[in-house]
Amino acid sequence: MLFNKQISNNTTQITQEIPVPTDMDGFDEFMQNIKIFCGVDLSSKREITLQRLGAFAKNKQIKTFKEIASLIRYHSETRQDLLNLITVNETYFYRELPQLKDVITYANDLPDARILCAPCSSGDEAFSLAMLASEIGMDARRLSVVGVDINSEAITQANSGIYNERNLHRLSSFQKERFFNKNGDKYEIKKQNLARCEFKIVNVFDDLIFNLGKFDIILSRNMMIYFDDAFRLKCVERLHKMLKDYGRLYTGHADLVPYTPLYEKRFSNGASFYEKR
Ligand SMILES: C[S@@+](CC[C@H](N)C(=O)[O-])C[C@H]1O[C@@H](n2cnc3c(N)ncnc32)[C@H](O)[C@@H]1O
Repeated sequence: MLFNKQISNNTTQITQEIPVPTDMDGFDEFMQNIKIFCGVDLSSKREITLQRLGAFAKNKQIKTFKEIASLIRYHSETRQDLLNLITVNETYFYRELPQLKDVITYANDLPDARILCAPCSSGDEAFSLAMLASEIGMDARRLSVVGVDINSEAITQANSGIYNERNLHRLSSFQKERFFNKNGDKYEIKKQNLARCEFKIVNVFDDLIFNLGKFDIILSRNMMIYFDDAFRLKCVERLHKMLKDYGRLYTGHADLVPYTPLYEKRFSNGASFYEKR
């Protein structure tokens, strides 16, 4: 496959044919470097990753996968672009609702509650918690939610608080009206009426995450499905360090958490969670 590279100088424009990488050298190294950096295991998505990476290389005028594999390690801007490319940010408000309700019921029993959503994607989960707290009449000052995600575009959206109809498909008209201002086909969350939600670009495998402090509750839903067992274990071990004594870790229904003596699995109101031992 060929594409055109436009080289311009002050006077002329030369069209040069540059091949998209066809040499697979460096592709496995790229997948390995992604896994080492953020845990995401791309081995079951080889074909689609290859297509996307080819398009990325073409767009950025990078000639080989080997070069991309090394840029992940040494060039933070390219690394961020690649992380944005390979991560799956699917999320929506009130996803796995019984579990979110259990989180807020427990939070309301505490004098005040700090909750971490790791990952938060575009913020729907974090704002859902703040909305549920408001629905049960919990004083917004008793709750704070921090959301972290490795995808910078998702965090930009979370900070904007602006969503599409699709993100809100589980909400009733009453909930949409109560919690959002509608502007054209977009919905902007009414943050001022809710508990504080803040969002940061953080990799759960970066020790910077420990600067966020300790939490009463951590939600880590629908991220570990992209990790292998070793990274799932590493992930829950790191989150364990961020929980207060007897704090709770809630994982998604599809997240398979490997056994670790660090937690006791418990059930409450049809939801399950891992209590810090
Ligand atoms: C499918 S979304 C889940 C969002 C939300 N928790 C939910 O259940 O709706 C998975 C998110 O995990 C993020 N992610 C993947 N690896 C990560 C890592 N190492 N650190 C932080 N976030 C990560 C992705 O960027 C993506 O936004």
